[in-house]
Amino acid sequence: MLRTHHCGELTKVDLGKRVTLAGWVRFFRDHGGVHFYDIADSHGSTQAVFDPEATNSEELARLETALNNIGREYVITVTGVVRDRVEGTDDARNATGQIEVLIQSAKVLSRSKPIPFEIAEQKNSMLPGEDLRLKYRYLDLRRKEMNANLQFRSKLIACARRFLESEGFTDVETPMLTRSSHEGAREFLVPSRTMPGQFYALPQSPQLYKQMLMVGGVERYFQIARCFRDEDSRADRQPEFTQLDMEMSFVEMDDILDTIERMYASVWKQMFNETLPTPFPRISLKDALSRYGTDAPDVRFGLQMEEVTDLVKNAPYEIFQKILAKGGMVTCINLKATMAKEQDVDGSVGRKQVDRLIEWAKSQGMGGLTWMRMTPEGLSSNIVKYFPDEVRSALAQRTGAENGDLLLFLAGPRENTLKAGGQLRLKLARDLGLLEGKGHQFIWLVDCPLFQRDPATGGLTSFHHPFVRPVDDKILDGKERESTMGYSYDLVLDGSEIGSGSLRNHDVDLQRKVFDILGWSEEVQQREFDFFIEALEFGAPPHGGIGMGMDRLCSILLGCESIRDVIAFPKNKKFQSLLDGAPKKVEESKLTELQLLCLAEDEEED
Ligand code: AMO
Repeated sequence: MLRTHHCGELTKVDLGKRVTLAGWVRFFRDHGGVHFYDIADSHGSTQAVFDPEATNSEELARLETALNNIGREYVITVTGVVRDRVEGTDDARNATGQIEVLIQSAKVLSRSKPIPFEIAEQKNSMLPGEDLRLKYRYLDLRRKEMNANLQFRSKLIACARRFLESEGFTDVETPMLTRSSHEGAREFLVPSRTMPGQFYALPQSPQLYKQMLMVGGVERYFQIARCFRDEDSRADRQPEFTQLDMEMSFVEMDDILDTIERMYASVWKQMFNETLPTPFPRISLKDALSRYGTDAPDVRFGLQMEEVTDLVKNAPYEIFQKILAKGGMVTCINLKATMAKEQDVDGSVGRKQVDRLIEWAKSQGMGGLTWMRMTPEGLSSNIVKYFPDEVRSALAQRTGAENGDLLLFLAGPRENTLKAGGQLRLKLARDLGLLEGKGHQFIWLVDCPLFQRDPATGGLTSFHHPFVRPVDDKILDGKERESTMGYSYDLVLDGSEIGSGSLRNHDVDLQRKVFDILGWSEEVQQREFDFFIEALEFGAPPHGGIGMGMDRLCSILLGCESIRDVIAFPKNKKFQSLLDGAPKKVEESKLTELQLLCLAEDEEED
């Protein structure tokens, strides 16, 4: 080893020891001829000192030559003795902040060009623009925070793997060069050189392969699987990302959910030494939408919506009447006086806060917000006169209104109103600091339909994907097939979907029926899925599984703003790799070889 200790290790216990460190010169200071070097590696940083007065004359000349012209981020190794820092110069933020190493010999192992941005040590220090960090990602990764993120991710996956292996799961690699299929998202295609004009597709997920592993008798499969999707950019999306992908045979839905819950409980214990409460709450899609305005609710704070359309439908309040006449709805959030930051003298939610919320609602495309305040005399506001006594008491009762609480009403077309209500919840939680000190909360989103209507085409599409098993397969033949529910579940953490899974159609006729209902002709089914349908014809066991986004999971647990912060070499917001410049044009000779030259020629003509 080129070192005896790493840079985050030495303390007063080591005083007097002769040690060798190696790392990057993160900072350098010259105090009247005494030079201080902060030497950093992935464990931390240690102050090394060149002190002419404490160095004998023989070493002095050698050291001066060795340390001459050392620059920031040079890689050096130093050998010296651990000593106390001068009184008053301790650095309490640093684990090695009470000692320093008096340099006796030093060697430059590698030089560095001037760095394009500061490699800040502290979390949340001023960072340069993300694109610059991504271009020089290897420098960005030297930051403590980034390094810690990668270590966290590696450890979390190792903990999950440990659990899965102990439960008899087999880690199997499935192909990266696969056949193009209708799984859901747009794919990345890879041209074949040896079979000109033919293409592989990179997998959107190992879905079909893991199902075929079940047919192959693997019974319990997992994989840390790279997935590729040519989707539109979002903070929680990357064109290539990693799933913890699983599948199990001879199971019911509850067996799968129970396994996942026990896996996370084990990960929590191993990583944080904490007991994760299980089972995770289950919320139906219907409740999630009507109470939280989203299919991925954050349930860590209250502020649930209560629909009150039935209570206010006859009240002569013109705004509501107009909306209800058009088939709209009215929903209500109770902002408890105890939650509000600003309060009036009587302890109720402050008037200014109400005005700001009304402005915000308008900026979200809602007509505004209607409000009522709970007082000892009942609900009050400038519009209560339109709501008869019995309506007011029913509203207070349904929303659980207590003295000083503010009822916020949103009214409009159903989908928009629920969505705006969901946004309002999140805004209030942020503004009022309702998430402070809250831990993490998993929930299962269940009771989802098998199909949904595509607003663009009007046709039926899968709610999740076409391999989900219907709860009642008989309904598929009838008129109500659109409302058929599926055995599917999403895993939601703190308001983000981190996983999705289902029981599958192991009965080939049922699988074919689902394809038929999706409007896929026999020809399409054969073209895309003949191999898969055939596999189901050879005795497929009942099976099901789940795919969980590891990038999303880690970024939520680490409190990152984007999943890019937990990926070593991510693409930027435009899905470009700024480090190596991909995607890029390629030489004509490569296109010729792949018989794709016509593409390049078409482009030139443009
Ligand atoms: P699904 O498409 O819902 O299901 O994906 C599962 C999980 O993968 C993560 N994820 C992503 N993460 C980062 N960038 C993306 N572009 C991206 N897309 C998805 C999410 C999501 O919940 N084969 C099924 C799983 C199954 O049924 O077993 C599937 O892939 O966290």
